[in-house]
Amino acid sequence: MSRFAYVNGRYARLSEAYIHIEDRGYQFADGVYEVCIVVDGKLFDFAGHFARYERSLRELRMAQPMGRRALQTVMRELLRRNRLKTALVYIQVTRGVAPRDHAFPVPDTRPALVMTARRFDLHASDAKARKGVRVITHPDIRWGRVDIKTVGLLPNALAKQAAREAGAAEAVLVRDGVVTECSSSNIWIVDGNGVLRTHPRGNQILGGITRETALGCARELQMKIEERAFTIEEARAASEVFITSATSFVMPVVAIDGARIGDGAPGPVAARLREAYKNKASGG
Ligand code: PDD
Repeated sequence: MSRFAYVNGRYARLSEAYIHIEDRGYQFADGVYEVCIVVDGKLFDFAGHFARYERSLRELRMAQPMGRRALQTVMRELLRRNRLKTALVYIQVTRGVAPRDHAFPVPDTRPALVMTARRFDLHASDAKARKGVRVITHPDIRWGRVDIKTVGLLPNALAKQAAREAGAAEAVLVRDGVVTECSSSNIWIVDGNGVLRTHPRGNQILGGITRETALGCARELQMKIEERAFTIEEARAASEVFITSATSFVMPVVAIDGARIGDGAPGPVAARLREAYKNKASGG
């Protein structure tokens, strides 16, 4: 079956879905994106993803191509055309097509909206979570506004490639000895006092929607939480480490740079949070 994409007002076969070469996303990474998961037709955390999408656009002074309802309608139609019930939906908006010039194009330039969907294997994700994943450390060389979810992901791509070449699932980004987040996820530890810790929101991390929902779950489970940065040494000495993102939910980390975390098996805190997250995000 062909896959379909939504491109600027039309649904096109993926092989026939094109954007203009002077799209500013292509030339300047002048665009934002979101990744949402749909499980059995239920959009996980949509309110959060939509709020962040609006914020990203606002921070870059970019126009919204369509409102929330219309966007959701396109998502549903795209899923229907691709015959998907459990899927990953990718949404990208750029400042549009204009002759190449660094400064913004004329104000009536229409933003470009692209959406794709592909199958998401929840069982494979759960199986992975039962074993846990290995990560490596990597320098955080990104710009000063990584809180905006832009398509300018070259440092993230380089970090993820380094992880892949090392046989690891993720790259933990470290700046001045402090862990910020990972190449495409947020990272948490359970420290020596049993306190859950993750880097506070701000310009140095992407405020993950999964992170936010997981924080809510942790509060409901009466876990002790501190949104406070930790060093790479603290991560290595933690009793548990895990990552969160739309595509990994809550995923236990069992080794950093080849050194085991705790006893080298996924821990109870991550397991409880993963279950609680899945429940909450699906509206259960
Ligand atoms: N990545 N940090 C970074 C740098 C990310 O790229 C992501 C998400 C997150 C987690 O955000 P959320 O919980 O809202 O997914 C944190 C997506 C999944 C991606 O780029 O594919």
